[in-house]
Amino acid sequence: MASTPTSNRGTWNTKIGFILAAAGSAVGLGNIWGFPTQVADNGGAAFILIYLLCCLIVGFPVMVAEFTIGRRTQKNPVGAFKALSNGNPLAALIGYWGVLCGLMILSFYVVISGWTLAYVFEELLFFIGYESLAETIGDLGNGPKNAIFTLAFMVLTVLIVTGGVSQGIERATKALMPILLAILVVLIIYIFTLDGATDGLRMYVSPDFSTVSGGLVLSALGQAFFSLSLGMGALITYGSYLNKKQNIVESAAYVTIFDVGIAIIAGLLVIPAMFVAQAAGVQIFNPETGDLFSSVTLVFDVLPEMFHNVGGIIGMLLGVTFFILLGLAALTSSISLLEVPVSYVIDEHNVRRKKAAWMVGGIVGVIGVIVSFELGLIDLFVFIFNEIGLPLGGLMICIFLGYFWKTENALLEMKDGFDNIDNTAFGPVWTFFVKFVSPLLIALVLASMVWGLFGG
Ligand code: TRP
Repeated sequence: MASTPTSNRGTWNTKIGFILAAAGSAVGLGNIWGFPTQVADNGGAAFILIYLLCCLIVGFPVMVAEFTIGRRTQKNPVGAFKALSNGNPLAALIGYWGVLCGLMILSFYVVISGWTLAYVFEELLFFIGYESLAETIGDLGNGPKNAIFTLAFMVLTVLIVTGGVSQGIERATKALMPILLAILVVLIIYIFTLDGATDGLRMYVSPDFSTVSGGLVLSALGQAFFSLSLGMGALITYGSYLNKKQNIVESAAYVTIFDVGIAIIAGLLVIPAMFVAQAAGVQIFNPETGDLFSSVTLVFDVLPEMFHNVGGIIGMLLGVTFFILLGLAALTSSISLLEVPVSYVIDEHNVRRKKAAWMVGGIVGVIGVIVSFELGLIDLFVFIFNEIGLPLGGLMICIFLGYFWKTENALLEMKDGFDNIDNTAFGPVWTFFVKFVSPLLIALVLASMVWGLFGG
């Protein structure tokens, strides 16, 4: 049995607590705002099928890899790759890259999350008749206002992370995830009582394969990495707080199914809601091209419009609950982004958790304020750290695990908590995916992205 260093680092209290925390990390803006927008942008159900394939053949194997590296080393990503590398200094670079991606992704994630907070107030103010104040708070281009909500969200994130693993992260996600699911279901039931909703459902379930292209596969893979929280060691870090009794493979399966499930359910709300707004006269699709008018700001531009059209106290309650829901989902994700650099500072520089969280949070807050005023940076950061950064991280993790640390060692670690692993086909199948299928697919996607950059 593999022995691991013991330390006074935190651990998850319960099996379900870990699964909910990892699912909480996965479920976020990516599911409720990103996924439905991408579905609508890419012709509906055909995108969903390709996305499911990406989650299954790349996402799930990489998730198992991250959990395993984390539990084996019980370290942050930098420490983890150092520990497994036999002194090769290059390996730690994978970890440093993850810490950097975490910092930079969080810097714009808190700005968008700040918008969700702001829209809770916008909906309330609109309802009680303070329309011009509502408009100011809902103005996505208002720098000082953005900065205030960004910092507020950053402080919330830091406060949970200072609470540590079981008292902070596990407790928060255990309470928040079920509420999230309940609110989603209520909103879906309501939306289907409105005109136009079934048109949305039609688009959502009937695949149009004429829309499938190389670009669509790129979007689907990028979305899978972002939504499952993969490629930068967030799940290495969460895996580092796991005990030896937990079945890693089973946990990864639950988290993947949960994340995909919530995205599909969120689409069932947002896509019909778009068509309801359209039936109420809001322009959503360009009638000439069939493209979405506002893909990035869809949730923040179009949905409040719909809530206002519903009107009255019902419209307000729908709006407020929707944005609280989005904010909660974002919070359980942002804590995992912050936990990566924080655990790095705690482990590698011997700083106390509280100090580490405020320090790293302060740095992210400063960058977040800059982004609040310069929204163009969001696209730039998304491009460098999400679209390139995460798949690149995933590729390096696969190569490191498959060819340096070796999958046999990883499978030995997985045996703890999964006693009869050798009697299943899991080992050879997973090995095949981690060594060949996943890295090849990611490399292809990255290569075609570079090809596109240089005008190919
Ligand atoms: N998965 C989250 C979402 O869908 C975002 C996120 C949280 C993330 N932690 C991450 C993305 C780590 C990549 C890596 O909104």
